Amino acid sequence: MNKNSLVSIADLNKEELLALLEQASYFEKHPNSKILDGKVVATLFFEPSTRTRLSFETAVNRLGGRVIGFSDASTTSSSKGETLHDTIKMVSNYVDLIVMRHYLEGAARYASEVTDVPVVNAGDGANQHPSQTMLDLYSIYKTQGDLNNLTITMVGDLKYGRTVHSLLQAMSYFNPTFRFVACKELQMPEEYLKFCDENGIKYECTTDFSPEIINESDIIYMTRVQRERFTDIMEYERVKNLYTLHNAMLADSKPNLRILHPLPRVNEIAYDVDANPKAYYFDQARNGLYARQAIICRALGLTPDECKKA
Ligand code: CP
Repeated sequence: MNKNSLVSIADLNKEELLALLEQASYFEKHPNSKILDGKVVATLFFEPSTRTRLSFETAVNRLGGRVIGFSDASTTSSSKGETLHDTIKMVSNYVDLIVMRHYLEGAARYASEVTDVPVVNAGDGANQHPSQTMLDLYSIYKTQGDLNNLTITMVGDLKYGRTVHSLLQAMSYFNPTFRFVACKELQMPEEYLKFCDENGIKYECTTDFSPEIINESDIIYMTRVQRERFTDIMEYERVKNLYTLHNAMLADSKPNLRILHPLPRVNEIAYDVDANPKAYYFDQARNGLYARQAIICRALGLTPDECKKA
């Protein structure tokens, strides 16, 4: 396993998180360079993606590297029965870094264990999405000016939504207060509540997306109900539209409140929220480019000083 792989947000300590945020800030000011000249990055997407794949690929292109890969695994030899093990071994012959999204929890960890090439997890099932968390942290820092002592309300699919799992763990360094708003079928899993308990993190689980909760929040993090994770489609139909944020609901919210969403949205945020200055989800997605530039450089062992010299 390469020590620079990023499989789970828990692979990074507080100092490493902050260093990546600083590096993202540098790349926001200097998005183009030749630091990756001669490097080849593979983007292996076994599940659909718009933002994650395109922002990783843009990040490589803007830093002067090259990208190979696929966005539809049905066109690869995995459709003939080639195992993930063999696919990773093969791709490792060609590239300096693998960015992989897979529908199975643990697939990124497994991939990182069968190759010496660094692996960045671009989402593994309902488990983790660490690069999303880096752009979420960067977005929170940019909009709040601080990561400490914030009240963060997570709404929607907290069971299958991998982005909230990673974000919860990363925020644990910064004394957050969480509100977990979800129907009983999609509550935050027990292991993450246990994590909060063990780390002294304040939280409340509720099914009620109440005005009090909205008005106390610094961040509202809406999530899509992850249809692709349900085994019972009728259950999905029952829960898919339970929480929708409308602009009128923000009338008495805090001035510093920002609405985040990893996107894509389906029905979680009404279009009338988009014009509200507190809506930040499209800017959040743009921040993904800078955060992923920082992640790629770290994975390739490039120091901040080397990045600045390029
Ligand atoms: N936020 C996110 O992971 O989006 P994509 O599925 O489009 O990559």
